[in-house]
Amino acid sequence: MAKDIVVEIRNLTKRIGNKTIVDNLSFDIPKGEVFGLLGPNGAGKTTTIRMMVGLMSITSGDVFIDGLNIRSDFREAMKRIGCIVETPEMYKFLTGYQNLLHFARMSSDISRERINEVVELVGLKKRINDKVKTYSLGMRQRLGLAKALLHKPSVLILDEPTNGLDPAGIRELRDHLRKLANQEGLTVIVSSHLLSEMELMCDRVAVLQHGRLISVKRVHDMVSGTNEQITVFDVNQLDHAEKVISATVNRPAETTNHGLAVRVTREETSQVVEALVAAGIKVYWVNVRTKTLEESFLELTGDSDLV
Ligand SMILES: Nc1ncnc2c1ncn2[C@@H]1O[C@H](COP(=O)(O)OP(=O)(O)OP(=O)(O)O)[C@@H](O)[C@H]1O
Ligand SMILES: [Mg+2]
Repeated sequence: MAKDIVVEIRNLTKRIGNKTIVDNLSFDIPKGEVFGLLGPNGAGKTTTIRMMVGLMSITSGDVFIDGLNIRSDFREAMKRIGCIVETPEMYKFLTGYQNLLHFARMSSDISRERINEVVELVGLKKRINDKVKTYSLGMRQRLGLAKALLHKPSVLILDEPTNGLDPAGIRELRDHLRKLANQEGLTVIVSSHLLSEMELMCDRVAVLQHGRLISVKRVHDMVSGTNEQITVFDVNQLDHAEKVISATVNRPAETTNHGLAVRVTREETSQVVEALVAAGIKVYWVNVRTKTLEESFLELTGDSDLV
């Protein structure tokens, strides 16, 4: 096992009755990575996570956390995991701090210093002495995060952490997770069915469909990919411009609401601009439409059941 691999999933399978819900998943996650489980509803994300954190039995296969097999070394392995799978239970009439104190007392050796440290980490210092019932959803979520971090886990696992958060809340969560991964070396696993979120939040994503692993990819590679990009030229004299573009790159340009779209390389883009200007056409904008994760997902699965 490579030294910095923190999570190792080997042939993980869950069958219920005659239905295979999670089918032979294998992947590794190194220290300090934000890793996404991406897939549509029913793909098996929650089931995978529940098996990883011991909330559901494993039919076959193995999960190793810091090299510890969760089947044979359950307690030790669980000490290294912090998770929020279902909405964490908090006592609404206690303050955030009192809640953390309560959870800290339930496990051994968590100091007051550690409580203060996690409060600081999740950015809840100002409101930590207010009652939880006065918290917004985003603040409750941060308190949940603080709770999950109390025992200094090496892996943080969050099932659909952005559910119910507004865009600002999602952004904050993303920044927190990134900070935890970069500064604390925490390995983070998040699940989502939302491509746009995973694209911004994760280093790599595992694409799941019908319980199977379609691929594990670096988000950057999924989004950038090839050298040719669909490029939209916002110009005047559309008919004339279309002729100039197709003559320059030897392929037709398509008229869209935003201008003429054509698949070109970086080099061709400059040739097109030059030709347009030489033909007396005004070029207002040139926009490259990078492939979205959604388009990449469709290429991988041939399926469009993602939102
Ligand atoms: N206890 C269970 N008994 C029978 N089937 C189950 C059970 N738990 C989950 N399933 C089925 O397993 C499949 C995967 O469910 P899972 O909850 O893991 O998906 P998910 O990817 O988390 O979906 P979502 O995006 O909706 O949360 C679904 O078809 C679900 O109906
Ligand atoms: Mg789920």
